[in-house]
Amino acid sequence: MGEHGNGDRDSGAVITAGEGDKGSYAIDNPGLPPHRPRLADVDEKAAKRAERQVTALFLVSIIGTVVFFVGYFAVGRMDEFDDYFDGMTALRLQNTLLGVGAALAMLGIGLGVVHWAKTLMPDHEIVEDRKPLRTEQDRQEAEKIVTEVVEETQIKRRPLMRNTLIAAALLAPLPGIVMFRDLDRSEDFGVERLRHSLWDEGVRLVRDPTGTPIRAADLTVGSAMHVIPENLREISSHGERLSEKAKAVVLLMRLNPDEFENPEHPEWTHEGIIACSKVCTHVGCPVALYERHTHHLLCPCHQSTFDASQEFKVVFGPAGRPLPQLPITVDDEGFLVAQSDFQEPVGPTYWERGNA
Ligand code: FES
Repeated sequence: MGEHGNGDRDSGAVITAGEGDKGSYAIDNPGLPPHRPRLADVDEKAAKRAERQVTALFLVSIIGTVVFFVGYFAVGRMDEFDDYFDGMTALRLQNTLLGVGAALAMLGIGLGVVHWAKTLMPDHEIVEDRKPLRTEQDRQEAEKIVTEVVEETQIKRRPLMRNTLIAAALLAPLPGIVMFRDLDRSEDFGVERLRHSLWDEGVRLVRDPTGTPIRAADLTVGSAMHVIPENLREISSHGERLSEKAKAVVLLMRLNPDEFENPEHPEWTHEGIIACSKVCTHVGCPVALYERHTHHLLCPCHQSTFDASQEFKVVFGPAGRPLPQLPITVDDEGFLVAQSDFQEPVGPTYWERGNA
């Protein structure tokens, strides 16, 4: 049997269909189904109605953006209220307006464009054969297609719809831009402010949220606890309290003193109790899972793993440096206190960039 005979077909070889062997197709090309005109294609009233619906959806988007800005600028911020509950009410109202506003802004544009495409733009299916690219003829054809598409969208014929789309599309990204303002509202905003936390010499470690101080005896070997600095309660502004808390949260755990592996700073621990920042050095998620048998701390976001018995060295995952350790000791009354602030900034590995 020849090389291209039936034996190839029987053995499962690929059959190439060229001009001369059209009969080799297993199934005839059914072609495109016949075009069925939509209501708006044959009835100008229906087309007008669709135009109004699309315009209404773009208007919904514009209203959504306005609602967002009302929530953002007109509703007071939580830290402007002396009373905690008034602040919480304002916060809830603001979050509702921001969420509803942003959702309407995006949905209005999205639904409007989809409805426009489904009702008014031509829905003929077009087949374009492959051929060599980038010839002058291609360029002219591409230009022609763009011109045709602009005509087909009817954007010139329907100025109301076009103008509301332009207004909605210009306004919709603004909420995202103004929200950058909330990254830090403090007057002394700057990267340097992130270097320091509320921890300082003699600041007690207290439970969150009760604020009760902790004695060494409160921690058994193998246990772990989430703590905050006692002086956090002295900050009156709720907003500032939240941002300081985010930097200062600490995990406290107790090991057998002989479980530490060649510690560089044994003087930063107390009877096997060791403390570290809870902010992951990868991109800042809270490190939350402590495995007492391995002494491993796991960050749930990207699985960075830190070893408490090796002063929080990274043993797995994308984090680039150990969790900063908080030097601790006990005060005259036997309560756990910090010896100082963290010895290095907490949080993502941004801080290593200058040393690279
Ligand atoms: S934020 Fe912790 S591993 Fe990525």
